[in-house]
Amino acid sequence: MVRKYVFGNPFETDAVIEKMKAEQAWQEPGEISAENGFSFSYIMEETDIVYGLGESNRGLNKRGWRYISDCTDDPNHTEDKNSLYGAHNFIVISGKKPFGIFFDYPSKITFDIGYTRSDLLSVNCENADLYLYVIDGKNAYDIVKQFRRMIGKSYIPPKFGFGFGQSRWGYKTKDDFRKVLKGYRENGIPLDMIYMDIDYMQAYKDFTVHEENFPDFARFVQEMKESDVRLIPIIDAGVKIEKGYDVYEEGAEKGYFCKREDGSDFAAAVWPGYTHFPDVLNKEAREWFGSHYKFLIDQGIEGFWNDMNEPAIFYSREGMEELKSYMLEYANEKEDSSPWELGDKVEGLANSPEDYKRFYHCIDGKMVRHDKVHNLYGFNMTRAAGEAFEKIAPGKRFLMFSRSSYIGMHRYGGIWTGDNKSWWSHLLLNIKMMPSLNMCGFLYSGADLGGFGADATRDLVLRWLAFGVFTPLMRNHSAIGTREQEAYQFENVDDFRGIIETRYRLIPYLYDTYVKAAENNDMYFKPLAFEYPEDTFAAGVEDQLMIGKELMIAPVYTQNAKGRYVYLPEEMMFVKFTKDSCYTTEILEKGHHYVEVALREVPVFIRKGKSIPVVRPARCVEKIDMETAEYIGYKG
Ligand code: NOJ
Repeated sequence: MVRKYVFGNPFETDAVIEKMKAEQAWQEPGEISAENGFSFSYIMEETDIVYGLGESNRGLNKRGWRYISDCTDDPNHTEDKNSLYGAHNFIVISGKKPFGIFFDYPSKITFDIGYTRSDLLSVNCENADLYLYVIDGKNAYDIVKQFRRMIGKSYIPPKFGFGFGQSRWGYKTKDDFRKVLKGYRENGIPLDMIYMDIDYMQAYKDFTVHEENFPDFARFVQEMKESDVRLIPIIDAGVKIEKGYDVYEEGAEKGYFCKREDGSDFAAAVWPGYTHFPDVLNKEAREWFGSHYKFLIDQGIEGFWNDMNEPAIFYSREGMEELKSYMLEYANEKEDSSPWELGDKVEGLANSPEDYKRFYHCIDGKMVRHDKVHNLYGFNMTRAAGEAFEKIAPGKRFLMFSRSSYIGMHRYGGIWTGDNKSWWSHLLLNIKMMPSLNMCGFLYSGADLGGFGADATRDLVLRWLAFGVFTPLMRNHSAIGTREQEAYQFENVDDFRGIIETRYRLIPYLYDTYVKAAENNDMYFKPLAFEYPEDTFAAGVEDQLMIGKELMIAPVYTQNAKGRYVYLPEEMMFVKFTKDSCYTTEILEKGHHYVEVALREVPVFIRKGKSIPVVRPARCVEKIDMETAEYIGYKG
């Protein structure tokens, strides 16, 4: 049962697609106040668990921290951070009388979940203009499914999107890509995609291809496809300001860029230098920006990743001017009086909240200041692409995922979780985040396997890939300047082959499970408590996940571990996939166990009475042969 409430004059975010009548008076647990901004507060029982918030920091149970939905380009996802790239304002309070609540509000909103006072949940935002949806149900799982129905069906990727992808910021030339392909093919490791980061473009200009490095790009795309690999280029939010560059010229002429208060086009520096932001919240401008994806589609491209769409700003013209005058002042008067201030000023240039107040969107003829709708930018950039794909190639599935997002974007694409690090703690964060993302509709998701920033170690990459076998998006990506971490860069490549082959052996099962989850507004990854609501121990488990109706996974996420402790809420079959398509099975009783898992093994638990199809590995998704399927698990 869902009830809708309207406060003030909310912005239409298009997150919810189900039509509902609004209630007259608040008749829910918790207090609300619409004076001095908006606040919701609720006293939690000691045993209540709070789920939700999609892409956010810390655990599956969100209690004990303050989270701020304020899409942010921050590559340091340390425990102290409050905001990441997405804004997913849905929570479920799971206790005696469970309920869910969605705050449909497109600007900054704070969720204090037992941070200020351990029993107090309080949600606050600056303007009392929002929609609130309150959902009751049997339990948290039931509430999530009702929420998912309200927000519409999740994006389904093409089947090749379940293949393995290799990425690295720094591949520049055709030969760089050929080298990656060769590394995988010569070592017999399956591969379906190689991602193109910003260097494939001419001077980082969207919808261009570097002329010298990629002459006859269409032919090159074809050459890769002949080896069963698709190239997946990145698209950035900012459009380079450059005379003669068609996308810039058109956008400027038609008035499709975000504007300053005085009507001039707002300029922010990102990779290409100064850029303008396409006003993707304006329907016409969105259509126009989306139509440009055709340039690459016409050359054989079938998938994209949308980046820097918080939108990230290195500095604005105004910010730079302010810094310059501060520097002069500093040199003349302040040099030894405020050494920290200087550093703060320089650092504060990037993604400054002041800049988000300096530009406007034109929505239905009205100018709306960006900070009021900040969290919708990434959503609408990806929507631009999704809506365009429907026109360019109706019915065709494109691969699409974004860095920034708001609920609603899950209908157009997936997300990757941005710039993590090659840290064991980020592998654990990845595990905990996946079910929360699913609650908010984002089924096609995954992290940069092996870690983006910092140097990876062989064991970390193996353990992370072994978890990545199960994440819908399975991509190894790393930052320029870090240790190379493609699967063939380390000793005993066989171990890497074995793990990636396991993914391919499971693709028919995993893709089918994904499609069912999307079609039924269900989750692909679930917390244990959603399948075993009566099991009080399961409620506290955050490092094991349920997949579909058949599987439980318990990834190893600590260095030098020979295995791990695992909790089984019922008897299960413990399967370890290893290289050369071998596997071992063992029945384990309900309860606690220590299981050994070698670095080259992929552990999985099949639920009592269930079985899953497993095929022979193939070098790419299209070559998977269903004739080779066998069933592993309990005999029917
Ligand atoms: C930031 C993205 O998060 C990262 O994945 C990418 O490699 C860099 N931008 C460069 O494009």
